[in-house]
Amino acid sequence: MPKKTTVSIIKCDVGSLAGHHTVPKPLLDIGEKRLKEAQKSRLINSHYVFHAGDDLELLMVHNKGENNPKIHELAWNIFQEAAKKAADLKLYGAGQDLLRTAFSGNVRGMGPGVAEMEIEERGSDPMVVFAADKTEPGAFNYPMFKIFGDPTNTAGLVIDPGMMEGFKFEVLDVMENKKVVLKCPEEMYELIALIGTPGRYVVSHVWRARDNLICAATSTTRLSLIAGKYVGKDDPVSIVRAQHGLPALGEIIVPFMHTYFVEGWMRGSHWGPLMPVGLKDSRCTVFDGPPRIVALGFQVSHGKIASDDDDNPLISDLFDDPAFDLARREAVEYAAALRRMGEFEPARLSAETMEYTTLPKVLEKLKGKFVKAES
Ligand code: 13P
Ligand code: 13P
Ligand code: MG
Ligand code: MG
Repeated sequence: MPKKTTVSIIKCDVGSLAGHHTVPKPLLDIGEKRLKEAQKSRLINSHYVFHAGDDLELLMVHNKGENNPKIHELAWNIFQEAAKKAADLKLYGAGQDLLRTAFSGNVRGMGPGVAEMEIEERGSDPMVVFAADKTEPGAFNYPMFKIFGDPTNTAGLVIDPGMMEGFKFEVLDVMENKKVVLKCPEEMYELIALIGTPGRYVVSHVWRARDNLICAATSTTRLSLIAGKYVGKDDPVSIVRAQHGLPALGEIIVPFMHTYFVEGWMRGSHWGPLMPVGLKDSRCTVFDGPPRIVALGFQVSHGKIASDDDDNPLISDLFDDPAFDLARREAVEYAAALRRMGEFEPARLSAETMEYTTLPKVLEKLKGKFVKAES
């Protein structure tokens, strides 16, 4: 059996500077220091620490497989340590996403978000990691469909004989905790019927149909379903594999040439336009947003992220590019249009989704004031 390589991205909001805005350097430094040590002790082979708005993101490449207790514990301990530092500094929402206390080998269901992919490395294995802030995992449904299911997005679906058999999408029903696999192009309409409801149905994995090659994995954590109330947004991550019988890098990021609307933004209670940004702009500002997404491109090579001679991983900050200025401009314009509507739907989320927020408490107060109306 060839040796397999695992890419893991595990993330958590451990506390943030000046509200839900950004992860300050002392917290990033904890991630960097601990992952460097883990690399020295050969638990992992490569790492990259960054942040998406107020979420601390740990990208790790190793040979331990998915759901490995040691890898998950490493991330969990870093989040605990960073949350403690955040608490010492009295940063906002220290330990926000650490919803459970007793760690038992896996961060799934405990608050942090995780996307993992175990692969047999191809001759060359280009990858993209996406990380978003102020939104939910279903926010990736639309681009996942575009990338792997839509021939108007991905020319390879039409031009490359290696992709003609299509792709299989695993869709998770986060309310019922059930999943289903649907294949494109044959079941495209059924797929859209489900994933067009991103608050409930989430694309969790994608495989190439002809050989079941894994090509995408997405985090599915819904914090409000774990906590039973709104405690912050999920702020999802995703790993996507590119090229050579898979969508090209450019086909993976072209869906972000325009903005599109996602649930989240201020207090997790509003529709907002998702804005692709470079790492330098990965900070949420206007009305705690607009919701933002970063994309990092890299190569997986000999069990690691391909690195320079000093072992620094070679990472390309994909949205730090004028080609995404149009989407950013649209995002600001649409954000302004929605904000003109204040707290009126559809700027605010549906009453059903608001159930998880503090709005029901406000409505509760009015209960006694209602009198029967004449029919
Ligand atoms: P590959 O088929 O080698 O992935 O190249 C596709 C391409 O030319 C990208 O634009
Ligand atoms: P985060 O989920 O990114 O912490 O945002 C919480 C929030 O309520 C922003 O307004
Ligand atoms: Mg936060
Ligand atoms: Mg966040």
